[in-house]
Amino acid sequence: MNKFSYDIYSYGFALLLKRAVGSEDLSVLHEELETFNVDTDQSSKYHKIFYSLSENHQFFLNFKRFVKDEIRPLFDEDIIFQRKPTFRLHFKGNLAVGAFHRDRDYNHSMHEVNFFVPLTEAFDSNTVWVESEEGKEDFSPMEASYGEFYMWDGANLSHGNKKNTTGSTRVSFDFRVLPKSKYTTSDKKSVTQGVPFEIGKYYEEL
Ligand SMILES: [Fe+2]
Repeated sequence: MNKFSYDIYSYGFALLLKRAVGSEDLSVLHEELETFNVDTDQSSKYHKIFYSLSENHQFFLNFKRFVKDEIRPLFDEDIIFQRKPTFRLHFKGNLAVGAFHRDRDYNHSMHEVNFFVPLTEAFDSNTVWVESEEGKEDFSPMEASYGEFYMWDGANLSHGNKKNTTGSTRVSFDFRVLPKSKYTTSDKKSVTQGVPFEIGKYYEEL
């Protein structure tokens, strides 16, 4: 996995989400939840706010510019990308800890490349843990600050979350990119949203 940095002021991702949820500090969002249990910590009111943002929200316009200006240059061919990034809130003291997995086990192409973009400090047990080589299971945390992102192989490397004992909620978004030459039409769908892995549905062209 490789870590890169970018200019936070060009995109304002954290600021736009702070405005959307009405919070000054994304790392303390757990304090504002009225209910907090194993069923709701992956579908909180904040998840609902993020997923209700319209496609024309400034966040998504800036996201597309981010893909074009920061991500496309990392490839030596045309790419397609996950048109709606996935929001993650890894609450302090979270109860729902996802099983470790490889994304290819969930219908994803083994050729996809993952990008992890934290909007708060991502460290220790509040971030994603990933093995260094397929099958090694030597998990280590993807630690990064706001303004940094990881390019990594979530399709083929086992990864997952732990119980967050840091005292700080991690807010991030992530998305997948596919080199255009690896794109084939298929009837496979994403497991979580049931969206077909096709251009115009799960993916978008630059
Ligand atoms: Fe995953």
